[in-house]
Amino acid sequence: MNDILVHTEAGVMTVTLNRVDKKNSITAAMYAAMADALATAAADPAIRVAVIQGHETIFSAGNDIGDFLHKPPAGVDSPVFRFLHGIAAFPKPLLAAVCGPAVGVGTTLLLHCDLVYAGDNAAFSMPFVNLGLCPEAASSLLLPQMLGYHRAAEALLLGEPFMAEAALEVGLVNRVVPPTEANGVAQSVARKLAAKPSSSLVETKRLMKKGQAELVLRQMSDEGASFSRMLGEPAAKEAFTAFMERRKPDFSKV
Ligand code: COA
Repeated sequence: MNDILVHTEAGVMTVTLNRVDKKNSITAAMYAAMADALATAAADPAIRVAVIQGHETIFSAGNDIGDFLHKPPAGVDSPVFRFLHGIAAFPKPLLAAVCGPAVGVGTTLLLHCDLVYAGDNAAFSMPFVNLGLCPEAASSLLLPQMLGYHRAAEALLLGEPFMAEAALEVGLVNRVVPPTEANGVAQSVARKLAAKPSSSLVETKRLMKKGQAELVLRQMSDEGASFSRMLGEPAAKEAFTAFMERRKPDFSKV
């Protein structure tokens, strides 16, 4: 699996999205590789911290739209749901370095990371409505909590991109740096964490998250049921076909 690279060094497992020619859009096979890597990292005591990163020009264009059309996720054991559960329940520190567009799950996965470093070219967007879909990854719960209801509604109903500085202001990212430095900054913070007592990191994260761990999984499951249904409905079909045909979607009949 060349589209996902997994590298472990000095207690830090780094997962790199490496499908740059397709803007790091994520296929079922890529979700499966990332879910497997996270499961390994959670279980292996030699891995103390995990990092998800992309390329300095692109973090991820979100789910592969061809997959949405031809191989939609089927059920809770599908790779995308395994991945989403994997990041939501990941017990150790999880960091991300984000440069360029972070679309759909490229943004919502960050809500499950503990620390996020962004290049100043990062552009976050959740265009689920524009694709005839609904939010996923518990973003319909976590985003209003983080941004406040009205800013979350703006991000989710309009689906327009917001830049790194705005993400910093609302607390979605920890620091904004030049794009050439984002992966390196995440790496050096990850190494710093890996040198700390792992049991304390894990317990601290558990205590911070336990208040709504179940709620997050329940919301993900509610969203997943709606999302799966909507993938087969006319609005989504029109949006995906329009993307493939490089034209504007026509929602006048849906
Ligand atoms: N799924 C499948 N292929 C994708 C993709 C996606 N989500 N996003 C981009 N690609 C492919 C394009 O089809 C194109 O392939 P081609 O070279 O074979 O024609 C290639 O990646 C480059 O994409 P392009 O749109 O030309 O790049 P860009 O720099 O002009 O724009 C984005 C980058 C990310 C802004 C744009 O690709 C985009 O909006 N993608 C769709 C995002 C989306 O709606 N994702 C679903 C979220 S739920």
